Amino acid sequence: MQELDRRIYLKGQEVRLRFTKKEDAQMLVDLFYQLSPQTKWLRYHWHEHNYSEEEIWQQCYKMADVDWVHRGAVIATTITPSGECCAVGVAQVARVRAEDTEAEAAIVLRDDFQKKGLGKYLLRILSDKARQMGITHVVGWVMPENIYLMKLVRRFGLEIETKTEYGERKVRVTL
Ligand SMILES: CC(C)(COP(=O)(O)OP(=O)(O)OC[C@H]1O[C@@H](n2cnc3c(N)ncnc32)[C@H](O)[C@@H]1OP(=O)(O)O)[C@@H](O)C(=O)NCCC(=O)NCCS
Repeated sequence: MQELDRRIYLKGQEVRLRFTKKEDAQMLVDLFYQLSPQTKWLRYHWHEHNYSEEEIWQQCYKMADVDWVHRGAVIATTITPSGECCAVGVAQVARVRAEDTEAEAAIVLRDDFQKKGLGKYLLRILSDKARQMGITHVVGWVMPENIYLMKLVRRFGLEIETKTEYGERKVRVTL
């Protein structure tokens, strides 16, 4: 698989974009704990206390340990003023069977990295890789109040179907 190592600048701050690797699990756990309750709600549709530490680890480990057959993920990292590398966003795609052409996709950015256009970079890389995996449609579960995600997805100009199920919006995008 071709590696990705891209640097972008968001309001002067350098952000590195690359595919996740196993060793990123800890950074993804740290990212989870830095998200505001509102961001956690929009992404996971659950509140923090609904998750055990073990479940959070399992989720993050799955995001880090990708095979690009069933799962893939792109991570955005930056360097803190004290020189440490930390995750500021991640976008992932996952399907049940290797032959499935439909997969679930999700994205989350740390609150201070939202509204800066980072989501567009992550989703563009992820959708290109998803196409290479043979995925033709991605599905995401979005809270009805999440206008930010809808604005972002609409900017890609792809065909979008939406339907409401169990109080959440199911968004299906043709890649
Ligand atoms: C949804 C999300 C991925 C969008 O990524 P992003 O890089 O912030 O997107 P953009 O910078 O292109 O912003 C998209 C639009 O939403 C607005 N927006 C994004 N985050 C916002 C926030 N927290 N508060 C208010 N407006 C916000 C932007 O101003 C922009 O509006 P505009 O088109 O009128 O300028 C990101 O906000 C996020 O991580 N949200 C929390 C998790 C989530 O909702 N995940 C999706 C469900 S899987």
